[in-house]
Amino acid sequence: MFGNKRIACWMSEKKSQKVKWAEFEQVCSNYGYELFKLDLEKDIENQGPFSVFLHKLTDIIALANQGDAKSKNTINLVENYISTHPEIIVIDPIPNVRQLLDRYKAYSIIHATDLHKHGVFTPNFCEITTSNNQKTVEELNAACVTYPFICKPSLGHGSKKAHEMLIVFNEGNLRDCKPPCVAQAFINHNAILYKIFIVGDQYYFVERPSLKNFHASDQKTIFFDSSDVSKADSQSSLSVLDLEDEQIPKTRPDPIILGKIACTLRKAFKMDLLGVDVVIENFTGKYAIIDVNAYPGYDGFPNFYHALLKCIVDQVNSGINTERKHNLKVDCLNIIKTN
Ligand SMILES: Nc1ncnc2c1ncn2[C@@H]1O[C@H](COP(=O)(O)OP(=O)(O)O)[C@@H](O)[C@H]1O
Ligand SMILES: [Mg+2]
Repeated sequence: MFGNKRIACWMSEKKSQKVKWAEFEQVCSNYGYELFKLDLEKDIENQGPFSVFLHKLTDIIALANQGDAKSKNTINLVENYISTHPEIIVIDPIPNVRQLLDRYKAYSIIHATDLHKHGVFTPNFCEITTSNNQKTVEELNAACVTYPFICKPSLGHGSKKAHEMLIVFNEGNLRDCKPPCVAQAFINHNAILYKIFIVGDQYYFVERPSLKNFHASDQKTIFFDSSDVSKADSQSSLSVLDLEDEQIPKTRPDPIILGKIACTLRKAFKMDLLGVDVVIENFTGKYAIIDVNAYPGYDGFPNFYHALLKCIVDQVNSGINTERKHNLKVDCLNIIKTN
């Protein structure tokens, strides 16, 4: 009935539980596609043929990068399968996902875009590769990373550890940073974060809680788990503004700028499924991109499965493959709906 219009889909058990499979299958079928849940424990070839491979392999790629033998084997099998079937549209290509997992690499890619022309920046950052504090001081200075800075593990996925972060307030506490990690200047933004969800040429954004304002001081390092901070229902004590900060005026986000960010990062990372965390700096009103994720949760994205199928069909029709170029015909993406 579907010919070879079959979508192989793989995601972790945890992510899989959040998917409304019956609805997703129905939407696929409305677009003429059969949805197939790929089993990576079994031979892939025997489960094919497929025209599309949709996946969230971030954690497995991250584990493979850290040397985990089983994950390495799984990724090898998947990459071999893709290379012997170059006609399959992969969303998103594994090499493109891989470069996003390294926070330093991801920030470097954002930094190299022309978003600064639109009042958008990625906060100053550098890698911390050594426990030699003198060397770290030099690296921080060279990259103009000031205090306080937020210290994040270099590898942004794969384990709980990827989300164990620190806010470092002074040189005296540099020893708290455990390399390999990335130091990123802390941007005061009154504890409001915007998550942009990108699906091909469509995007949507939501407001989320974030960290309160901090200033350089002699205070001790704050250790926190980032997964407790910016979920829709997070209630971290680190999000409660100091009394004097409650008066700081709030800047409403400009959907056009968020669209420019979405469009530019989609091109820069050559990926269709992206989540971008943006904060608006107090007083300057500039937009700081602080995090980019592959295939985010899309919580609240209206008619997500339709948007996803539209994106898949666009890719299939454009005939662009593994090394997709994203020669976008549009300057900005289509916003679904603003809040
Ligand atoms: N440079 C920064 N300045 C201010 N707050 C930040 C900065 N980077 C991250 N944060 C805060 O820390 C949280 C976690 O950081 P993020 O890089 O998004 O980690 P994760 O990969 O775990 O999502 C963000 O949601 C935001 O609240
Ligand atoms: Mg984040």
